[in-house]
Amino acid sequence: MTNKDIIKNIIKLKREKNAIILAHCYQNIEIDEVADFVGDSLYLSRQAAQTDADIIVFAGVYFMAETAKILSPDKKVLLPDKNAGCLMADMINLEQIKSFKKKYPSTPVVCYVNSTAEVKSQSDICCTSANAVNIVKSLNSDKVLFVPDKNLGNYVQSKIEKTEIICYDGYCPVHHNLTVEEVIKQKNLHPEAKVLVHPECTAGVLKTADYIGSTTGIMNYVKNSGEKSFIIVTEIGVTERLKRDYPDKEFIHISNKAVCQSMKLITPEDIYNSLINETFEITVPEDIIKPAYKPIEKMIKVS
Ligand code: 13P
Ligand code: SF4
Repeated sequence: MTNKDIIKNIIKLKREKNAIILAHCYQNIEIDEVADFVGDSLYLSRQAAQTDADIIVFAGVYFMAETAKILSPDKKVLLPDKNAGCLMADMINLEQIKSFKKKYPSTPVVCYVNSTAEVKSQSDICCTSANAVNIVKSLNSDKVLFVPDKNLGNYVQSKIEKTEIICYDGYCPVHHNLTVEEVIKQKNLHPEAKVLVHPECTAGVLKTADYIGSTTGIMNYVKNSGEKSFIIVTEIGVTERLKRDYPDKEFIHISNKAVCQSMKLITPEDIYNSLINETFEITVPEDIIKPAYKPIEKMIKVS
């Protein structure tokens, strides 16, 4: 089958099976041709919660499909490649969150959505990179535990004085390994460019930013900006989409290290196979799905 045929068949199958495709903006860009919604984690969770489709195909990573299943337990949720995991989500498991909580009894737990259902089930409220500051503020607490991303947690701390944020030692290697030197090098080559940074980067890199925000936040910043040149400090999927959508503007991708290999696993052919065979179905154990729903529901209500 040619690529064109694959795309045509996916669109036909979606209609026949009453399916929707949600795609994160780090996915291979050609997936946008078949996606119903493309965006950041918060936007996609909202779509998963609202849809009346029978099948949700998640072009993203495991925790995103799992979150969709928790929000829409009666739907069939499919992840086209079962190996599409998240290195940060894998940094904390059930035992690790339990022992972290034990060290700080009676302290509310804020859980970045980039985490497993088991970890969510042990948390009070979820957040995404788009709403983390508001979520922590909403708790009105002297102290909170923040899992698993220490960089996002430290960023939130820099925005909130009255709450002490105790971070778990997790991070996203794709963002954590980007350096201040790389930003300075690009800034010297493009002094007029605005630096747009995802909050999973280290505090040093965040200090170089003109704007800090989620993937959709970064895309909206460009949309609303009169500026012509931008250094993009996040995964390459965002840079590629910006280049496609704003051909008259200049986008400098921070580094060829800023690629999430897991996000690149899914191809249009995988989506076609996923729809035909209804694979790989995501399930969440009965004793986890309810406690994991609560912190996600709370997040959606607050933000
Ligand atoms: P967003 O909240 O911007 O979608 O980020 C998700 C993610 O995986 C970033 O690494
Ligand atoms: Fe996980 Fe990082 Fe990839 Fe996002 S970019 S899915 S946090 S490994």
